[in-house]
Amino acid sequence: MLLPNLKEARKRTDKEVKIIRDEYIIPDNIKNIGKNKKYHVITYGCQMNVHDSENISAILEDLKYTQTDDVDNADIIVINTCAIRENAHNKVVGMLGRIKHLKETKKDIITVFCGCMAQEESIANMLKDKYKWVDIVFGTHNIHKLPIYLSDLYKEKKQEIEVYSIEGDVYEGIPVKRDSKYKAWVNIMYGCDKFCSYCIVPYTRGKQRSRLPEDVLNEVKKLKDDGYMEITLLGQNVNAYGKDLNISYNMANLLRDVANIGIQRIRFITSHPWDFTDEMIDVISKYPNIMPYIHLPIQSGSNKILAMMRRRYTKESYIELFNKIKKKIPNVAISTDIIVGFPGETEEDFKETLDVVDTLKYDLAYTFIFSKREGTPASLMKDDTSMDEKKERLARLNEKVNEYANMNNMKYKDKIVDVLTEDYSEKEGYLMGYTDTMKLVNVKASDEYLGKIVKVKITDVKTWSLDGEVCE
Ligand code: 5AD
Ligand code: SF4
Repeated sequence: MLLPNLKEARKRTDKEVKIIRDEYIIPDNIKNIGKNKKYHVITYGCQMNVHDSENISAILEDLKYTQTDDVDNADIIVINTCAIRENAHNKVVGMLGRIKHLKETKKDIITVFCGCMAQEESIANMLKDKYKWVDIVFGTHNIHKLPIYLSDLYKEKKQEIEVYSIEGDVYEGIPVKRDSKYKAWVNIMYGCDKFCSYCIVPYTRGKQRSRLPEDVLNEVKKLKDDGYMEITLLGQNVNAYGKDLNISYNMANLLRDVANIGIQRIRFITSHPWDFTDEMIDVISKYPNIMPYIHLPIQSGSNKILAMMRRRYTKESYIELFNKIKKKIPNVAISTDIIVGFPGETEEDFKETLDVVDTLKYDLAYTFIFSKREGTPASLMKDDTSMDEKKERLARLNEKVNEYANMNNMKYKDKIVDVLTEDYSEKEGYLMGYTDTMKLVNVKASDEYLGKIVKVKITDVKTWSLDGEVCE
């Protein structure tokens, strides 16, 4: 048993990151354990977790399990968790209750708990003491060892917890079963070294470590050859890509080289304003296959709060960057993340956030109430704003955010846009997909248009989506 440790997780040293290519193995005793059995993976949180779940699914398929959408029907259930805010935590605890109930009626179900919550000391201890029926617990650093843990479980039926609180290495060669045939996630880096004062990610995902350019480029080439239309380069802070590698190669270089492969659509998330260079803006504006959509979290419009958050920029420098991006990248859409109710946020500070939203008129904003994360500096800060007050601020902010989302969408009325239709819409007779600027569109179209970039005329506009019809 190896439990996580917050102090260890916080450490950063000069230790060189290793690229490990041969650690994914399948022990003989479990080669076919999934034959005639089904797996179900439940995923919470960000795209990084969604992609990790694609790895987990592929590992289980390597063991001959087949996927089921019905949790009640599964022989192995994996919960891939998120630790970013308290509400994600509550959802997971609720799900554990449901699975416990299932396990009481079907004793042989194997239950696996992984992801960012597993990296938290208190959670791993809770699983050890109160949830002994959870069979396997592992963290974000050792997904590739799932076959080993299953093999151990088959040899000796007892709870296995192995969570590393290390800085982390880069593992190549872990299989992936992609959810979509048209768009794919591509990790370009892992971890984060920014240590924003509220954020648990640098603890749960370890040190910033980039994949080698050739590994990323080879993956993208293969995706293109396999017919993928869109890739999203993933990282907690993609703009810092390459900084940890001892080569002079950065995010702008990577974007250029990925664009030159010629895949039709390239996206990237998430950008920290601190590392957004002019060189990157130039590359994005130059290549038509790099999509004009940027997620640029601001978090707060108050310089006092930004300093307490340790965000390393001011409201003024953020606005300058925002305007530069808008000026240089034609038709760009920008979205953001905002936290309200950070410790010490006064009504005046909050009004500064509202002012920035009025100035910048975001296409979209993801808004959150500050959530205290154990072990982070912000969890120790004095916080005397009531939850009612915070909820009221969130509602006021959301009203503005929605107003601008709607206003930005209105510009699309009667316009013709390119949409990559990626799935069936919930609306009967419609497909769904996104514009280059990441607007969700329900397209009245038959199956033959699925998985294609189609010209769509926008007929109706809503706050969160557009409706349209094929016009070719
Ligand atoms: N409380 C509330 N929101 C948070 N985020 C990260 N940590 C916290 C927290 N402790 C938000 C930030 C980040 C997004 C992914 O989640 O806005 O950009
Ligand atoms: Fe968290 Fe800040 Fe790193 Fe984003 S940049 S993952 S908010 S510490």
